[in-house]
Amino acid sequence: MTTAAMALADAAPKPPPLQEPTPLSSLVFSKESRNLSCLVVTSLVSILFALSFSFSSLSLSSSVAFTKNNINTRLASLLSLHNSLPPPPSLAYLVTGSTGDHNRILRLLSAVYHPKNIYLLHLDLEANQSEREALAYAVQKINVYMEIGNVHVVGHAGNGDTKGSSSLAVVLHGAAALLKLSKHWNWFLNLDVSDYPLVTQDDLLHILAFLPREINFIQHTDHFDPREFRRLKRVMIDPGLYLSTQPDQVFYGTQQRELPDAFRIFTGSGSVILTRNFIEYCILGTDNLPRSILMYYTNTLSSHTKYFHTVVCNSLEFKNTVFNSNLHFASSADLFKNMSRSGAAFRSGFVENDPILDRIDLVLLGKLPSKIIPGGWCLEKKTKMSSSSSSISNECSVLGDANILRPGPGAKRLENFILKFISDSGGSLRARQCISDRK
Ligand SMILES: *[C@@H]1O[C@H](CO)[C@@H](O)[C@H](O)[C@H]1NC(C)=O
Ligand SMILES: *[C@@H]1O[C@H](CO)[C@@H](O)[C@H](O)[C@H]1NC(C)=O
Repeated sequence: MTTAAMALADAAPKPPPLQEPTPLSSLVFSKESRNLSCLVVTSLVSILFALSFSFSSLSLSSSVAFTKNNINTRLASLLSLHNSLPPPPSLAYLVTGSTGDHNRILRLLSAVYHPKNIYLLHLDLEANQSEREALAYAVQKINVYMEIGNVHVVGHAGNGDTKGSSSLAVVLHGAAALLKLSKHWNWFLNLDVSDYPLVTQDDLLHILAFLPREINFIQHTDHFDPREFRRLKRVMIDPGLYLSTQPDQVFYGTQQRELPDAFRIFTGSGSVILTRNFIEYCILGTDNLPRSILMYYTNTLSSHTKYFHTVVCNSLEFKNTVFNSNLHFASSADLFKNMSRSGAAFRSGFVENDPILDRIDLVLLGKLPSKIIPGGWCLEKKTKMSSSSSSISNECSVLGDANILRPGPGAKRLENFILKFISDSGGSLRARQCISDRK
């Protein structure tokens, strides 16, 4: 293990970013007002006023974008308007895995890589520290990752039991770290090693560039089948939150609890695409709703599939910003044809070395399994093939401008996916926002 690789592993946020004074909290507790409680109150009120002002302007702009009757044609014409391209957004990816997932994480990273984005890789506590070091070392060996400097590895991992609430803690920790690592990203995405993209990053960035920057892509519903309903009422304890050694499985309290009536519960896919604004609201915000809901979900099974869904739909500021799809392929069909025709940006549920991944690489992403996904950012590819074909290698010898996208057929597929979704939900992005699906 080189010290450099160790340093990379340690480059992960050691003091949790939440403990750092944020601009907001330093404002509230500024030196001048600390001694005078009335000043604290006035500054708090003015902050709340400023917040409500900025939120109302946000919801105003989003409602302008969302309530157009002809959103369909508007989006279509926007998306095919190629001569005045808006600048591409930047995405922040949290990629999570467990013990033995080293190669799957590297493969997924090579398929979603783009220099405009930022990446945080997390191997949970089931993996040992040498696995995390090996991952950091493998990232270091790939020139383009090091040259751009946008791939980070979490050195101090958390437990990631997807049955419990510790995996939600991992997502929130990752999002907080990404807020601190870069000020420039627009959307946060969380993927685990069973996810894989079905379009290139140039395709995805190209399409997202045309969409309002305040959309949160969260697949959600408030319909729970009777079994899920009973599960919701159980009080679950996740030892992964407080035992630092490899903990036991989650366990349950003997009593049941009523469902909350202060907020409505929503559930959906644990994979979400969230705006920076919404992440800041959940992690740094002065509104207490995200924290109350977080505390409620500490004792709920698989809370990472419910937390953001419930917060967004119960927040006046954000409920108009949600799009009821996470751009993932929703059907369980694992036929390659169905996947590619769907136009979705991602699909979940792949097993390790699934042969269909090779096909996705070749046909949909235009890359060899061992190569980094191509894009407009690479001006010149290496012609000499690397000797070892099993590990990811660097194909780009001359880096270009990361803002130059070369979208391919995947952009058209994704555009159709979004348009079809809008037309299926009544021609409006708003139609399926936080509505009750309870039967
Ligand atoms: C860490 O885990 C890997 C994979 O399970 C194993 O091969 C290795 O021996 C472990 N190393 C230590 C130091 O426990
Ligand atoms: C796959 O797509 C075809 C249409 O292209 C459809 O008829 C078929 O039912 C789909 N298969 C599954 C399993 O969804």
